[in-house]
Amino acid sequence: MTDLREGIRDAAARLREAGVASADVDAVELAAHVLDVDASEVRRLMVLGGRSLPGSYAVLVDERVGRVPLQHLTGRAHFRRLTLSVGPGVFVPRPETEVLVDLALAEVDRLAAADRGEGPVRVVDLCSGSGAIALSVKDERPDAHVRGLELSPDARAWAVANRDRLGLDVDLVQGDATRPCFEDWTGTVDVVTINPPYIPVGAVPLDPEVRDHDPEVALYGGSEDGLAIPLAVAGVAAALLRPGGLVLVEHADSQGESLPRRLSATGEWTDVTDHADLSGRPRVTVARRSA
Ligand SMILES: C[S@@+](CC[C@H](N)C(=O)[O-])C[C@H]1O[C@@H](n2cnc3c(N)ncnc32)[C@H](O)[C@@H]1O
Repeated sequence: MTDLREGIRDAAARLREAGVASADVDAVELAAHVLDVDASEVRRLMVLGGRSLPGSYAVLVDERVGRVPLQHLTGRAHFRRLTLSVGPGVFVPRPETEVLVDLALAEVDRLAAADRGEGPVRVVDLCSGSGAIALSVKDERPDAHVRGLELSPDARAWAVANRDRLGLDVDLVQGDATRPCFEDWTGTVDVVTINPPYIPVGAVPLDPEVRDHDPEVALYGGSEDGLAIPLAVAGVAAALLRPGGLVLVEHADSQGESLPRRLSATGEWTDVTDHADLSGRPRVTVARRSA
């Protein structure tokens, strides 16, 4: 047993030395995990003093020093209002993707308020991973009809487990989003969300957490510019959407001009715009299906 305050302070110092940017937060999160309380309770206990940490804390800190992702050690990732189960075989959802969900929900809100008399708003999430986007949309707009598609059986299994634990009615299927899918909804979907693999092939991520632990299929976009898979999936979205329907595609910082340009060039899209994430970096291209 180690004193809580000292244990967390030492852990944060070791994590900082290992190059972990969020060292202080991670040291607290790992303590919260082993004590089975939330981070605010750990901070309270640090102020009060007199508590200790079990030996399992040091084991987890060692793994984090070895750059195993925090979310793999705690088994959970926070995304909007949800706590998602994650681990090996599935992409850990990122805070920057929350902007895409904000934009998608704004469109769902707009359509629902317009009372079009066409039944529930239809949303399709392609490349679903843990289900972060599809499950958040359903959680925040329970009246929307949401379906998701994921290529990797392992990732889909995580998404299904999340869906079932959270009790959210989302159809999650396994399949290739570069091929026709959900054909019973062709030309009828209102919103398609896509966070595809988009890292340029050959541009290996610097962070060991990403490079060594996110599945390769979740990272690389299939071409030197990283846009082959995103553009192919956008083509599938074009077939699913009704005229005027909205597609939202997450992309790398470096693709804020190239992706909108390439989408515009297809002739399938109008009103192509790009949006920044909370740190001001270009992150999501949004476009409407041409009539
Ligand atoms: C960047 S991750 C995003 C996951 C999730 N949407 C999120 O935002 O956290 C990309 C996901 O696309 C999946 N994927 C890759 N190629 C695919 C394809 N051709 N069809 C469907 N899913 C694919 C990967 O397995 C991975 O789960």
